[in-house]
Amino acid sequence: MKFTLNSVSSLRGDINIPADKSLSHRAVMFNSIASGKAKISNFLMGEDCLSTIDVLSKLGVEIQVENNSVYTYGKGLESLNKPNDTLYVGNSGTTIRLMSGVLAGRKFKSILDGDSSIRKRPMKRIIDPLTMMGANISANNNNDNAPILFDGGTLTSLDYDLPVASAQLKSALILAGLRSNDGITIREKAVSRDHTERLLSAMGAKITINNLEIKVSSSDLFARDIIIPGDISSASFWLIAGAIHKNSDIYIRNVGINETRSRIISVLKRMGANMTFYNEVDYSGEPACDMNIKTSNLKGTTISGAEIPLLIDEIPIIALAAVSAEGETKIIDAKELRYKESDRISLTVNWMKSAGAQIQELDDGMIITGTGNLNGGTFSSHGDHRLAMTLGIASLISNNNITIDNAEASNVSYPSFWDTLKNLGE
Ligand code: S3P
Repeated sequence: MKFTLNSVSSLRGDINIPADKSLSHRAVMFNSIASGKAKISNFLMGEDCLSTIDVLSKLGVEIQVENNSVYTYGKGLESLNKPNDTLYVGNSGTTIRLMSGVLAGRKFKSILDGDSSIRKRPMKRIIDPLTMMGANISANNNNDNAPILFDGGTLTSLDYDLPVASAQLKSALILAGLRSNDGITIREKAVSRDHTERLLSAMGAKITINNLEIKVSSSDLFARDIIIPGDISSASFWLIAGAIHKNSDIYIRNVGINETRSRIISVLKRMGANMTFYNEVDYSGEPACDMNIKTSNLKGTTISGAEIPLLIDEIPIIALAAVSAEGETKIIDAKELRYKESDRISLTVNWMKSAGAQIQELDDGMIITGTGNLNGGTFSSHGDHRLAMTLGIASLISNNNITIDNAEASNVSYPSFWDTLKNLGE
């Protein structure tokens, strides 16, 4: 799908944000390996989360989808069955990495595979520690790329320093730890999103957390009804659209603000964003609130170190905010961005350069000098949902039309993105 969009004179409205992707994956996955029936309300019906449902169904879990709700009928941690087919995750890194932790050390063989982007993403980071725990796992390219084959083994202990601050890696090991004979201890390099720890603990898992150290021992899980709040990574497109557009006022409802996900708020505040927060509520241990964003005069900032994992998915859209901000924005320590659905450093730098932005590529990030000037052009999402949506927001402030190739990549996390874009603009 190819969209050609141009700038709008105002950006106004009151919107709901689709459900959190990370939480939707976890809610259905953890309830599928727990005992009992659960209702997951406001589930994200995006392609990635539907891949997780499909994989769990192929493993014999009974799952029903009705409107925006998902019902799971879990039969406990050891209840999964040998699948007849390859377990295909599509574009979903969260599915392949977290399911690796679920499938490691099972009595049956299974294979996880995905699309061409998934096949390029690093998997050694999960395969190595799961193998150290006793699982038999093999994969392409020296055990670094999907397809990944799981073939038995017995899960024992692990004492391990995670080499990257990755919630997907951490979660895979925690899930395997639930079935390990002796329990595991892992230490994070920096705090990454903690949805797994929160939700599994609420479902009865034995998890203790001491700063960056997490201990998990063999546990039973009990199903739990969950209501999923809106995804702050999806809301960020509108937060930045509202901040950089000359005539905007957007009210965004029900956005998850777990502090391991919401560093974008502090970054936007220090850049000078005109934001207000309302109606804080708690959804099954995850806080959420409404947000209002209006036209702002942004200033550049530096984003580095421990901040990076707390806003990793927002960096492509932050780069767009930086183009509109006064002065320089420096994003460093973000090499992980090269291993996402695409190499988000080089692709962001490339399209922005061709659109006339002043941007310099670094090995681990980028430096942007704000000029407020963005020309149009034709750019591809390269199949990356967050790049497709960043290009959509760029069209709202660009001097000429922007044509986005492969715009439908947004369906992975935000199927209604283009409708919302159309409704907000005038
Ligand atoms: C996710 C974790 C992040 C993030 C991804 C979703 C998750 O990846 O980029 O979109 O749901 O755990 P890493 O933690 O591996 O960096």
